Amino acid sequence: MNESLRYIVLLLLFAGSTLLASVAHAVTESKAQSGDVARGQILFARYCTGCHGPEGGGDGYRFARGPDAANLRSPSIKKKSDAVLLKTIHEGKPNMPPWNTRLSEKESRDVLAYVRTLAK
Ligand code: HEC
Repeated sequence: MNESLRYIVLLLLFAGSTLLASVAHAVTESKAQSGDVARGQILFARYCTGCHGPEGGGDGYRFARGPDAANLRSPSIKKKSDAVLLKTIHEGKPNMPPWNTRLSEKESRDVLAYVRTLAK
């Protein structure tokens, strides 16, 4: 094989394998980022429906004072980023307890994945 052709073939092989590696990385990355909706639904039923209602419509427990539980089906929730909603779930809000002691990072993402299915 002629020297420069050999160089080109090697270069293509190398480029191909790095491309494959980055695609594989992106796939596992996005899997890790997005939660498991089925698990999220179970957690939601256990921890969240009391205030947010069985379908997340904000029709659960009514507080005597302070904000009512958010309607998780509303467009305003849909517009908020994952980061903002995860922060609320972790740290709580007035009348909403923080969940970071009971839900792992992964579980919080699972719950959020389920919440994302509620908004129409
Ligand atoms: C004790 C009642 C209560 C429980 C239980 C509860 N929440 Fe909330 N949640 C609230 C209230 C009240 C608000 C509105 C707070 C506000 O508007 O300041 C809220 C707001 C939210 C929001 C909107 C945050 C935003 O930035 O607009 C999300 C998302 C949310 N809750 C998710 C959850 C999830 C997920 C769970 C279960 C793990 C849960 N909540 C459990 C009371 C509760």
